[in-house]
Amino acid sequence: MFISKNSRSELIQSIEQLKREKNAIILAHYYQDNGIQDCADYIGDSLGLSQAAAKTDADIIVFAGVHFMAETAKIISPNKKVLLPDLDAGCSLADDCKTEDFIAFKKQHPEHIVISYINCTAEVKAESDIICTSSNAVHIVNSIPKERKIIFAPDKNLGRYVINKSGRDMVLWDGACMVHEAFSLSKIEALIEQNPNAEFIAHPECTEAVLKHASFIGSTTALLNYTKTSEKQQFIIGTESGILHQMIKNSPDKRFIPAPPMNNCACNDCPHMKKNTLQKLHDCLFNEAPEIMLEESIRLKAEKSIKRMLELSVNL
Ligand code: 13P
Ligand code: SF4
Repeated sequence: MFISKNSRSELIQSIEQLKREKNAIILAHYYQDNGIQDCADYIGDSLGLSQAAAKTDADIIVFAGVHFMAETAKIISPNKKVLLPDLDAGCSLADDCKTEDFIAFKKQHPEHIVISYINCTAEVKAESDIICTSSNAVHIVNSIPKERKIIFAPDKNLGRYVINKSGRDMVLWDGACMVHEAFSLSKIEALIEQNPNAEFIAHPECTEAVLKHASFIGSTTALLNYTKTSEKQQFIIGTESGILHQMIKNSPDKRFIPAPPMNNCACNDCPHMKKNTLQKLHDCLFNEAPEIMLEESIRLKAEKSIKRMLELSVNL
């Protein structure tokens, strides 16, 4: 059933009431729109969100993010109901790494250990030895004995960044984030020149050419923390523009300039993340649908590779 609430405050009030009645928790990624972030019980990067999903005692998790994130929550917490406001909220990385192709890729490198970025389907996680996120990728790769060969999938830009940081030689799957790959190098160079007092900071999903200009590189949480603690007053932000909401909230006197994409827009939105709206969030909590469902054999295999990551990330 679709309940149309006409004002934003009515929607928020109703979401708060439904959360209490149903013992539900809202986990939101930084790329969600401002209204959704303001309703969330926890806002974080992919690692923080999986850790929060693993330890919550709520009966229902509403995942305000994209499909692979909600699926990860279900893999870790199979006895909870996991809801996603819009089931079509995908991810270019997960969409471009199909299970059959991934299995064929693995067959070409039979002696390699398989590390997959969390931005992939449950089936690909089930085919992986260990999962990583942007905040622990270097740490996870460094935990693998030096003599072992590694496949890293599906983000070649994150993979290249990890190769440069760790000195490990890895075989990379040829995938990329459609948002971070769309940043315009020439426009970023021009912005840096026009704003000599601003620091350019970026997410490791950006291309190597863009990352060469960054004075700090990190996950969304790391970028946010950097802007909170840095003495700099101005930043050019090389990641999806949703993160600016928390940056401005935490440092209202600092100036944040979103890095521009190659098209004519001023900032770079993820079309998948932005599929979720406050109305859809409300309706999914009210209807307890759409719900994430998983085949148990896949879930069990995927859980192993995620658990290995969580065990290695306790102190991160
Ligand atoms: P993090 O949440 O690890 O910063 O990754 C960003 C991202 O693109 C998630 O889809
Ligand atoms: Fe996927 Fe990129 Fe969107 Fe993140 S920002 S969900 S990596 S397409």
